Amino acid sequence: MRTTGRRRRNLEGMTTTTPTEMSTLAETARQMTSGGRGVLAADESIKTMSARLEAEGIPAGDVTRRDYRELLLTADGLPDSVSGIILSDETFGQELSDGRPFPLAARELGILPGIKVDTGTTPLPGQGGALITEGLDRLGTRLASYAGRGAAFAKWRAVFDVTTTNSYVARANAHALARYAALCQEHGIVPIVEPEVLCNGDHALAVSAETTGLALASVFEELDRAGVDLTGIVLKPNFVTPGLDAPAIPAGDVAAATYEVLLDTVPAAVPGIAFLSGGHPTADVCAFLSDLIAIPERPWHVTFSFGRALVSDALRTWAGAPANVAAAQQRLLDNCRSAQSS
Ligand code: 13P
Repeated sequence: MRTTGRRRRNLEGMTTTTPTEMSTLAETARQMTSGGRGVLAADESIKTMSARLEAEGIPAGDVTRRDYRELLLTADGLPDSVSGIILSDETFGQELSDGRPFPLAARELGILPGIKVDTGTTPLPGQGGALITEGLDRLGTRLASYAGRGAAFAKWRAVFDVTTTNSYVARANAHALARYAALCQEHGIVPIVEPEVLCNGDHALAVSAETTGLALASVFEELDRAGVDLTGIVLKPNFVTPGLDAPAIPAGDVAAATYEVLLDTVPAAVPGIAFLSGGHPTADVCAFLSDLIAIPERPWHVTFSFGRALVSDALRTWAGAPANVAAAQQRLLDNCRSAQSS
């Protein structure tokens, strides 16, 4: 295991949580990312989920959004591949058709319930359209409520575009991520720390590597300053790839570039890394993950926390018809198994 100076400082500087709380957080983070299982991201906002339903010809409303999330969670065998599910605030407060609240139903299945707590992005003034993620106001109160209702972990997504990210943009987003992460740990919730470098565009692999490196270095600097214990977080980064409109490269090259950036920036104290899929096709992200997992002596557990790569086929197959539920669930399970056996 690589031990960086940053890691040593973090372990020594741990002040905000007791040893018992930390061992629980560390155990949860390990549970989420090890054993060949990964985290299902089903936390689209009401606006995004409604748009995705409507794109498949399904009327959008709280009931169809609930039915779709129920279809995902209750797929028979899902807990074999999935350790945790990220829910939106709406779903977290909804009940399955049998009356059980979603967080309780997930726990009964052996799947840890998580909650997306950021409230989305807005332009950062004076930064050419770069975005900052919002949601820190009253976050402590909200986390206390989610913890009381069974949340094991949370998620906050910062978004970086390769054309607008500079050190100030990286620092501002990293600062918000660190404040969120420290608050989560104070409430006994494992923070998923998600700095996503978008892959739209035609940029080269090296551009993604540079922006991802800047974002991750800023994140770990701010987590350190905020006193966040790295043993109780899960990192959710993008794969380092050329832009989606640039010529594709072999999966092994993506895995090697991603590993190089991670090794440079992510302390070995982090127990697990769960990748987002970012709009890449399912087969591609499974290949990237497979090649990364094959790298020997990695310092961290590595797994998936895909959204679209796992669920898009299921949504299309379901099309809102009760008769299609079983077939849709099978599509979800097939994709989870592909990601798992990567
Ligand atoms: P995708 O895998 O669809 O990128 O979603 C993951 C996620 O949680 C984005 O915040």
